[in-house]
Amino acid sequence: MTAPIQIERVKKSRLSTVDFSNLGFGNYISDHMVVAIYKNGEWQEPKIVPYADMTMSPAMLALHYGQSVFEGLKAFKNSEGRVSIFRPQRHAKRLNKSLERMCMPAVSEELFINSLSALIELDEAWIPTSEGSSLYIRPFVFASESKLGVKIADEYRFMILTSPVAPYFSKPVRIKVDQEYVRAAEGGTGFAKCAGNYGGAFYPTLLAQKQGFDQVFWTDAKEHKYIDESGAMNVMFVLNGKLVTPQLTSSLLDGVTRNSILTLSASLNIEKEERKISIAEIEEGLKNGTLSEAFGVGTAAVVSPIASISIEGRNYQLPVAGPESFQLRAKKKLINIRLGIEPDTHNWNHYIK
Ligand code: COI
Repeated sequence: MTAPIQIERVKKSRLSTVDFSNLGFGNYISDHMVVAIYKNGEWQEPKIVPYADMTMSPAMLALHYGQSVFEGLKAFKNSEGRVSIFRPQRHAKRLNKSLERMCMPAVSEELFINSLSALIELDEAWIPTSEGSSLYIRPFVFASESKLGVKIADEYRFMILTSPVAPYFSKPVRIKVDQEYVRAAEGGTGFAKCAGNYGGAFYPTLLAQKQGFDQVFWTDAKEHKYIDESGAMNVMFVLNGKLVTPQLTSSLLDGVTRNSILTLSASLNIEKEERKISIAEIEEGLKNGTLSEAFGVGTAAVVSPIASISIEGRNYQLPVAGPESFQLRAKKKLINIRLGIEPDTHNWNHYIK
């Protein structure tokens, strides 16, 4: 049995400063955080300490050469007060895929899940329970060694923060299909959840926002012909009555929500296809009405309806998703499983108490 994690508690909780009726996304950070140091070729025992600023060298390698990866997952409290984390094993696996791609040391599933569970148990009071809210969990690893030489770092930190959040998008999303800029090329780091992928996406997204859109659909780097994913979420369509989503490649994030919805599709009586989806096919479907639904899926986004899609300046509105739509049925099922209202037949909930 592993020793319990060393905990240093806050002197005074900041919980009373949280406006639970107006959480937004990522505005509050809970009282405590996990910190583990990697040096001499191994991870040292993790600690839980009060959330606070930290000192770091201006020559810290992560700041210069970008060895920095993260995860995003969620914890929920159900009506009986039971606390669960959604699919932490799958998030641990993905974190390790990202770490490998960035030449960073693996974090064992044991270190990941044990430290995560201890943190959530300690800050349990921060888990919001209003509809659509959750405790967002942000594990991350970065190169902490201080050196200016271009090198793979020898020292790292693994940390976890948590944040009570409301839904990421407050209304259906307006999309611009981006055929100029690229998020990721095959063979690059698109499948890894590394910080640079997000920084590089800001500029094209800002341009789209200035034109009145919320997010972009990234297209493939070679031909700008096929849809990859959207900002902060994977994308799915209901086309000719089938659930269709871009197949995974090295330029797409293997979303946990994407995988969950695909897994649930059979029980929601819909056929699924993971394949290349061209912009031309989407535009045709929008014109002739065979594309009945478009939505984004992600940990933060959950299932977010898409209101409109703009292709080279041609703007198409999508029908408002009603209760019988696939996306709302899928969202409801996912939420019910997380809250223990429907049976968790896939063992996705990791209960901590
Ligand atoms: C997530 O869904 O966890 C994300 O990483 C999206 C965003 C908040 C960065």
